Amino acid sequence: MFKRTHNCGELRGSSIDEVVNLNGWVNTIRLHGQVVFVDLRDRFGKTQIVFDTDSYSGDFELVKKLSMEDVLSITGIVRERSQSAVNPNLTTGKVEVVVSDYFMLNEAAPLPFVINDRDSAEEDLRLKYRYLELRMDALQHNIITRHKTYQATRSFLSDNNFIEVETPVLMKSTPEGARDFLVPSRIHQGQFYALPQSPQIYKQILMISGYDRYFQIVKCFRDEDLRADRQPEFTQIDIEMSFVDEEDVFSNMENLTRHIFKKVKDIELPDPFPRLTYQKAMELYGSDKPDLRYQMELIELKDFTDTSDFKAFRSVERVKGIVCKGGAHYSRKIIDELTEFVKKYKAKGLAWMKFQNNNFEGGISKFFSEELQGSIQNKLDIDDGDILFMVGDDSSIVLNALGQLRKRIAIKEDLANKNDFKPVWITEFPMFDYDHESDRFIAMHHPFTAPREEDIELLETNPSDALSRGYDLTMNGYEIAGGSIRIHSPKIQEKVFSLLGLSHEEAVEKFGFLVEALTYGAPPHGGIAFGFDRLVMLLAGTENIRDVIAFPKTTSATSLMDQSPNSVSEAQLRELGLNVNRPKS
Ligand code: AMO
Repeated sequence: MFKRTHNCGELRGSSIDEVVNLNGWVNTIRLHGQVVFVDLRDRFGKTQIVFDTDSYSGDFELVKKLSMEDVLSITGIVRERSQSAVNPNLTTGKVEVVVSDYFMLNEAAPLPFVINDRDSAEEDLRLKYRYLELRMDALQHNIITRHKTYQATRSFLSDNNFIEVETPVLMKSTPEGARDFLVPSRIHQGQFYALPQSPQIYKQILMISGYDRYFQIVKCFRDEDLRADRQPEFTQIDIEMSFVDEEDVFSNMENLTRHIFKKVKDIELPDPFPRLTYQKAMELYGSDKPDLRYQMELIELKDFTDTSDFKAFRSVERVKGIVCKGGAHYSRKIIDELTEFVKKYKAKGLAWMKFQNNNFEGGISKFFSEELQGSIQNKLDIDDGDILFMVGDDSSIVLNALGQLRKRIAIKEDLANKNDFKPVWITEFPMFDYDHESDRFIAMHHPFTAPREEDIELLETNPSDALSRGYDLTMNGYEIAGGSIRIHSPKIQEKVFSLLGLSHEEAVEKFGFLVEALTYGAPPHGGIAFGFDRLVMLLAGTENIRDVIAFPKTTSATSLMDQSPNSVSEAQLRELGLNVNRPKS
């Protein structure tokens, strides 16, 4: 091998006539009679190398047999390209290297798909050969973006007095929301560790231990149903701070987020970030992670529909609608599709009226008198050529169905600018959700989230109405971080456990170490965790979380490259004292 003097993205006009050595992969080959052009590639770029019978005295027939992804080591002279041959798309595009000798370091087998054309193969095939897919420009760009995000995060937090502490990956199973991944113990047969869903308890204990400001870029594990923005193992920027309230957390985290976007993408985010209460976000956008890159707010319409002749909406709790700009041209077929879409979210149907020629037309418009139409028109920001969609039902169905429709229309009409980033804090979440199936409260954030001071009494009288000191940071329709000011009083913590259906004994059994630790001088504290992968998704401009993780799992939680999960030997099971009922194949 020729020891490389330069990488494949490095040569410029200043190196003309130098003898250089390059190592890399064959990216493309072009045969032109007695001249063979190859783009040699490594992580840093591509350089055109030229095999020419005049300058290369070895076996030219072998050169002609070079194939894509062979690994070469070459030596040669840098030459200026003729004006017409300059490639403006390559940083090295003004030069080429005329090869005098080369080593074939490794031949590549025929490829299962074309490198640098992700569309040439289904995702499953690309995941099986992930090491090949990772050679693609797009993925290398994402992985480098991820690297820059780690560095920007670490330097900001370290510069601001946060210290990085590792917490255990083998811990006690504690109910946190999702299902745990369990690890059997060999030494303590019949007992299990759990992989952390987050280091929540440890970071609170670190505050009790006086570490004041903690962070960790940490793997978390949740056995839950997967979606485009979820993985069973994912990464958080986990943060906790002592002697703080919401304002301290917000300003520090806004500074961190602004720092990351500036360092990684040279983008300035707003200062301060806007805020919305949970209730307002649900009412205006039908979502607790609204995409604010486009408008289309949900409008209250019940007063109008109640005075119309459209009886179906009289008996329902709520009627809201959205105006889709320029949507009056939607055909029956499109409206039917959107109707089927909202039905997936439990809406019974989708009512509509088009605004054309200064009049409402079609759909349910005939049920609205001219006067009523006039007052609707006055209230709405509606122009000729728009369409108004309406859903009437229970409040939660109306908000959710219209929130989903809002997103669907934004995709259809391409309303969201990819280069626009709109952060917004969501605050004042309810403390609890009521789960009718199990007939008990469930923590909306997690059981350690403090209630608002003014709502502590409601824990006794009307827990459903109590609001929490939890907050989410959302951006462009994603929840990129979630956190809260914590309970630091053992009494309130026990009250919350009891509302969640945990008896004193159960709470001590499950969270005993935290409940006990709180009695030894816990400072007021709070924190947050960023979904690191989601943050990188936004920075890298992709909507698929697998695009920003080097070795991701599929949506059915398998790794196609290393074939995990997989069965283990009987001997391994015996050692762990486990008996497995294997599914019949
Ligand atoms: P939470 O459960 O809201 O809070 O998680 C924090 C952030 O992690 C990201 N996230 C995920 N990303 C990818 N795949 C998943 N399966 C997944 N689940 C969550 C989201 C989310 O906002 N301990 C608390 C934080 C705290 O209170 O400080 C916690 O884990 O972006």
